[in-house]
Amino acid sequence: MLNLCTLTSLFLLSATPLPREDGLRLQEDNIPAIVQALTLEEKATLVVGGGFKSMLSGFLGEKGVRVPGAAGTTRAIPRLGIPSIVLSDGPTGVRIEPTRKRDKDKTFYATAFPTGTILACSWNQEMVEQVGRAMGNEALEYGIDVLLGPGMNLMRNPLCGRNFEYYSEDPVLSGRMAAAMIRGIQSQGVGTSAKHFALNNQETNRAGNDARVDETTARELYLKGFEIAVKEAQPWTMMSSYNKLNGEYTQSNRWLLTEVLRDEWGFEGLVMTDWTGRRNTGRQIAAGNDLMEPGLKSQIRELVSQVKKGKLAEKDLDICVTRILELIVKTPTFKGYAYSESPDLQAHAKLAREAAADGIVLLKNEGTLPLPKTIQEVAVFGVAGYQTCIGGMGSGTVHAPYAIQIPQALQAASIRVSPSIQTVYENYLQKRVRKKRKASSMLGEAIPPEFALDAQALEEDRADMALFVIGRQAGEGGDRRLEDDFLLSDIERKNLEAVTTAYHRAGKKVIVVLNIGGVIETASWKDLADAIVVDWQPGQEGAAALVDILTGTVNPSGRLAMTFPIDYFDIPSSANFPYDSQGKGSMNTFRKVRDRGRRNVDFTEYAEGMAVGYRYFNRTGAPVSYPFGFGLSYTEFTRSEIQQAEESDGSVIVCVTVKNTGHAPGKEVVMVYGDGVLKGFAKTKRLEPGETETVCIRIAPYLRPRSFLMVS
Ligand code: GLC
Repeated sequence: MLNLCTLTSLFLLSATPLPREDGLRLQEDNIPAIVQALTLEEKATLVVGGGFKSMLSGFLGEKGVRVPGAAGTTRAIPRLGIPSIVLSDGPTGVRIEPTRKRDKDKTFYATAFPTGTILACSWNQEMVEQVGRAMGNEALEYGIDVLLGPGMNLMRNPLCGRNFEYYSEDPVLSGRMAAAMIRGIQSQGVGTSAKHFALNNQETNRAGNDARVDETTARELYLKGFEIAVKEAQPWTMMSSYNKLNGEYTQSNRWLLTEVLRDEWGFEGLVMTDWTGRRNTGRQIAAGNDLMEPGLKSQIRELVSQVKKGKLAEKDLDICVTRILELIVKTPTFKGYAYSESPDLQAHAKLAREAAADGIVLLKNEGTLPLPKTIQEVAVFGVAGYQTCIGGMGSGTVHAPYAIQIPQALQAASIRVSPSIQTVYENYLQKRVRKKRKASSMLGEAIPPEFALDAQALEEDRADMALFVIGRQAGEGGDRRLEDDFLLSDIERKNLEAVTTAYHRAGKKVIVVLNIGGVIETASWKDLADAIVVDWQPGQEGAAALVDILTGTVNPSGRLAMTFPIDYFDIPSSANFPYDSQGKGSMNTFRKVRDRGRRNVDFTEYAEGMAVGYRYFNRTGAPVSYPFGFGLSYTEFTRSEIQQAEESDGSVIVCVTVKNTGHAPGKEVVMVYGDGVLKGFAKTKRLEPGETETVCIRIAPYLRPRSFLMVS
């Protein structure tokens, strides 16, 4: 937000133009003078990003690119000491080119942390803030000024291709997780970009789709998480999304970007577009969208022309220029920070493993886990059992130095992996690797399709237990499908039936592991499994975290951040979602999409209103496969009655004492509901058997419920 001093100075300056002083250089306290000294062309240059050179340096070459692979930059105005700053993806870690032609004796890998979904399932704000600190440190040490995350759109429908990057179906959980991430990253002196603001809840025709929603639903569901993130963490920037909101692109939607975001919520930072081609730049500036990314020279020319023709008020342009300068003076680049290009990846890998374990959810456990010492050998089934899906596809990928695989993690825990089964899968993958599309490496790895297990492989197998891994991949630019995605494929179902039949006949157990980026169907097959663990897309150390859970080194404490329905069509939004898009979408956000009035493509009716996730299922009592907030533990806990107190500012403080009454150390999640919806939550530290902890949850006035609070 423009502080009073700046606004007053801007007014005075516009009234009495000062002489252009030579040697004027940008400082934290002379922004109005700089704005006054800028020419119209220079102002237009500042609000338009530096183009694709940085992002595509792997193809276009590294000349003049400070951080190859970074998503974008701003443009410098050397005459006035205004540097170009660097913007890099993404929500699960720094995404830059891992190697450089100009610097062959170094590598530039970054830590692939657990994705947003598994972090949200940890319900652990302290842990997420720690992950943010590590991510922010890697951004700082690689010369990045703004990290383009967190991704925090609400999970309106399980088939949205980017749900892996997002947190939850609930805005309080989403907002609190995003706020923790923002605080963590910005504690390192680099910025964040809360995205994609707003209602970008599908990838099908994302650059043309019009999200049509009533204002109450928009405010209470789809904007509430962003409101919490802004009020609790003040991200340096927000990223306006590709889509339209009730007929107006969010990127030129003054109601959204100025009236709600700034005037109502008190957002003090800058709004940049998502990586869009040229639309109506003057209208975007007038709406309060300060920076056009990635930026095209034609947008600079358009702005100059629109101001000269009186179609855009220069004072609107000055407001955006001021916000850009207010951002620049906060950045490490402006402060001349000497970044090392060698962050402590080892320490961050350890944290990535702890964070993944904290978000893994135990859905079913019939006398199976933790693995008894008698289990010496485990047979690993499923392609993802040998090629862990550590993260999703698109700009949310990270070029990690390695990815731990499940067999490696089991062996590290002194558990043998059935060689006969391992050979079958690794031979298959060897053949597939030769066909892998190179391009996939930039946008993440698809998972090869499963193959039918032959009975002989099962007969030869002498393992003590089976691990059946179901892997799913999805990402930016396309939504998921029902067949072979939300639903198990026929081959997966047949393999699961064959393995469970063979193992149960031999009196052995089968654990199903869901290595997925978003919800899949579970009701039709969950009775076949003795145990079910969801490790989501857990980052480079995720397989190690999974084995920590299986062996009981870590007691599972994850709770679902979203509902697992029995049937996809039980979900109200399934009536208005492109589930039949067959994953068709487009990474091309520059393509002008003609509005042909196609339902769920050119426009999507949010006809279900507030009936999203548990809000619908709890209200109607409709059954689900696994409910929001669900997760098992290897121990038990009791809770005291809640103590509730009101603070002078209208906040409500709810305190609960939790006791570990079981036989294993563990963490417990306390959730506070009011008016039937989540109002707050907290996670205990690791409690030893018999140990207690009192957790207190503050519910801010703007989240305060009307009806009584209850704890679950
Ligand atoms: C992409 C994504 C956005 C990302 C940006 C830069 O299209 O939508 O999340 O930060 O472009 O890569």
